[in-house]
Amino acid sequence: MSDEFGRREGEEAIVLPETFDAGLHFIGRIRTPWSRRSECPKNGTQTNAICTLEVDPLYVPALQNVDGASHLIVLYWMHRSVRDLVRQQPRHAEGSRGTFSLRSPARPNPIAVSVVERLGIDGAEVSVRGLDCLDGTPLLDIKPYYVSTDCRPGGWVDRAGTSVTSPR
Ligand SMILES: C[S@@+](CC[C@H](N)C(=O)[O-])C[C@H]1O[C@@H](n2cnc3c(N)ncnc32)[C@H](O)[C@@H]1O
Repeated sequence: MSDEFGRREGEEAIVLPETFDAGLHFIGRIRTPWSRRSECPKNGTQTNAICTLEVDPLYVPALQNVDGASHLIVLYWMHRSVRDLVRQQPRHAEGSRGTFSLRSPARPNPIAVSVVERLGIDGAEVSVRGLDCLDGTPLLDIKPYYVSTDCRPGGWVDRAGTSVTSPR
């Protein structure tokens, strides 16, 4: 566990199951300018930094036609996260919240997602804008982003039913 994940008042941890239900292969690593969590943007809209998806040679054929997508959905593994928190106290929120209501990297399966702008592809390297992870974060998957299926109105609503950007 990284000591960057100190426990806060109101947080709840569980004992995780001893065995896993599935396996996965990292398909590469993500290169970013950030080596500490405190330096990372909270989400990819907060930065213009150009990052690189370094795809392992085995998977390079899978990049064929990816240049047809203006934006990509990138899934990555938050390898420096704790996994046992079911309730968390976000730094700037009142009261603790359930992990599945948060975009925190601390979760039972620390899978992160970002929609990024595809800038270029050079062999095994895909340059993108819109990531928020540490340098060296393992890459899980790359998918094309489709406005027709991935863009929905809505999100968090306040008590009056008005759409708001975050639950705060
Ligand atoms: C709030 S999460 C959002 C991740 C993703 N955009 C999502 O919504 O699933 C982004 C934060 O995770 C932390 N983080 C980044 N890379 C990490 C890693 N490899 N392991 C653990 N925490 C990481 C940083 O504090 C960063 O600001």
